[in-house]
Amino acid sequence: MGMRIRSQMLKAGGLVLFVAGWAVGAGAQTAQGAQTSAASGTATRHSAVATRPHVAATRPVTAATPPMGWNSWNYFAGKVTDKDIRDTADLLVSTGMRDAGYVYVNIDDTWEGGRDANGKIQSNEKFPDMKALADYVHSKGLKLGIYSSPGAKTCARFEGSLGHEEQDAATYAEWGIDYLKYDLCSYSGVMRAQFPNDLAAQNKMMREAYEKMHQAIGKTGRPMVYSLCQYGWDSVWEWGPQVGANLWRTTGDISANFDRMSLIGRGQAGLEKYAAPGHWNDPDMLEVGNGRLTHDENVTHMTLWAMLAAPLIAGNNLTQMTPDVASILMNKEVIAIDQDALGRQGDRVYAEGPVEIWAKSLKGGRKALAIFNFGETASEMRGIGLHLKEAGLPAHVTARDVWAAKDLGRIGDDTKFTVPRHGVVLLVVR
Ligand code: GAL
Repeated sequence: MGMRIRSQMLKAGGLVLFVAGWAVGAGAQTAQGAQTSAASGTATRHSAVATRPHVAATRPVTAATPPMGWNSWNYFAGKVTDKDIRDTADLLVSTGMRDAGYVYVNIDDTWEGGRDANGKIQSNEKFPDMKALADYVHSKGLKLGIYSSPGAKTCARFEGSLGHEEQDAATYAEWGIDYLKYDLCSYSGVMRAQFPNDLAAQNKMMREAYEKMHQAIGKTGRPMVYSLCQYGWDSVWEWGPQVGANLWRTTGDISANFDRMSLIGRGQAGLEKYAAPGHWNDPDMLEVGNGRLTHDENVTHMTLWAMLAAPLIAGNNLTQMTPDVASILMNKEVIAIDQDALGRQGDRVYAEGPVEIWAKSLKGGRKALAIFNFGETASEMRGIGLHLKEAGLPAHVTARDVWAAKDLGRIGDDTKFTVPRHGVVLLVVR
């Protein structure tokens, strides 16, 4: 296809943005394999802090929509093996998840072996041949992601990339890696040791470490989605794009329970101005299908992440996926809200007590409206309007109930829904 990577500095609204893209002529593919016309720079909502990149129509943005795929950590953690990755690749295809958009298969921490005499990173005994694994994953029409750290050790104390950044990026490219999650881990100790009482100097070191790997990836000539993981420290959303990040974690780790998931999701309010094609807030990987999340809790999780234009990186064990979980992860209309080409993250428009209403702008002048009930009993919305005005909508709208897959016709601010405990009603309105 004659792909050619380039790392380009673009000035947009006074902010220098690094946009990793590659040109393949008209009708180019994004890193997710989806046809795109790229970010057109039509958005106006960004503050002075972050401005949507102006990119010519023929120059697609890596991760023009939030990346979708699967990651090994949330379920397999340190036990993940080559076989788990192959099984997952097979199941992404046979369950329909690949065709629903989940194309990245990401190996998280604990694949790393030591280094050979030349300093080249080796995979450990759980992953006997990384190149062969990449070939297998690619043969299924999927892409392979990997994990490392700017520190000498990863969070699980495996080999990190410190001092080997270019060499590691080159090895990833040689293997055929398409996505890198780069997790701060032990590098925070290096920063603290060097500048014990100087947070600004520590922050500078962190940014430089992330930029170093960005440059190293650029040098390989292979497009890779670049995912920052430093737990949302130092307002990473303000500078992530400048170090080449396509996504950046905004929080500490998620876990498979409703309290942690909803705390993280609700905590994204206010970050919407930092999301744009190529640059996404990442509230961490999905726990849908993990732990003891109920049907309504899984629906809430998926809805909240879609409203946030969050990366949809599933984290469940596909060998045990129930039809219910499959239908939640693969709901096409919900995925379309997440992947909407406008690239707008939704925001909270109403919160009083357990009911919250969030709105997300969609292309074609439509909006997604989510009525969440974080409370312990079902809500009939007594005394609670839909807050259409606060969502930037007229007094009456035409609505579709997405999870019920039902057109509702015209509704107004006083239309009542019953929202289950830990559940949500998701509407698309125009
Ligand atoms: C954490 C990270 C997790 C996972 C883990 C692996 O720092 O937030 O998502 O990658 O490290 O050790």
